[in-house]
Amino acid sequence: MTKVAIVYHSGMGHTRRQAEAVFEGAASIEGIEARLISVDEVEANWEFLDAAAAHSYGTPTYMGSLSAGLKTFFEKSAGRWFTQAWKEKLAGGFSNSGSASGDKLNALVDIVLFSAQMGMLWVSLPLLPGNVFDTDSLNRAGSFLGPTAQSPHGLEVELPFPGDLLTSALYGAHVAQLAKRLEASKAL
Ligand SMILES: Cc1cc2nc3c(=O)[nH]c(=O)nc-3n(C[C@H](O)[C@H](O)[C@H](O)COP(=O)(O)O)c2cc1C
Repeated sequence: MTKVAIVYHSGMGHTRRQAEAVFEGAASIEGIEARLISVDEVEANWEFLDAAAAHSYGTPTYMGSLSAGLKTFFEKSAGRWFTQAWKEKLAGGFSNSGSASGDKLNALVDIVLFSAQMGMLWVSLPLLPGNVFDTDSLNRAGSFLGPTAQSPHGLEVELPFPGDLLTSALYGAHVAQLAKRLEASKAL
């Protein structure tokens, strides 16, 4: 089984729902063992993270950047930076915020930079931009680095929006499929 880890922080549950969608997409691929790991649970999951072929990191956008929760996980991983232990694993990322932009791009760029420092290979979102006015649309925000979700404050509907969750699930499946291909090529 090819292992895929989805590591996320969520203060109020919205990014957790997005992370669950990424996890469900990854787990739907045959031959994949996906694990959803809250930053509060990482201590019990280092072995899985080291063994995984792919990681996907999720954060709410707080103050235009990573949440302190995901950033703390990144800093805890510094020992793996010294040894480049995660070199050539795949890396993906996703973010959720209140506003349409909310400066989520900056949070994604932070995740890309962490992944680059770790020697990992970035997986972008292979979906053309959707319709920003349709909350069921795929890649509504037209983001290419990774799926972005919106959970506007004060709306009486289930959040993040359905299209954002489906986009996240498709991304999880994409990361998992690439992880399988990567492992198969290493076995040759
Ligand atoms: C400390 C803090 C900072 C925030 N900063 C932003 C921001 O920069 N841009 C934005 O669109 N929303 C911002 N928000 C709103 C959150 O991104 C939004 O509520 C999101 O759904 C929270 O995800 P969570 O439920 O996983 O914590 C902020 C919320 C908090 C608590």
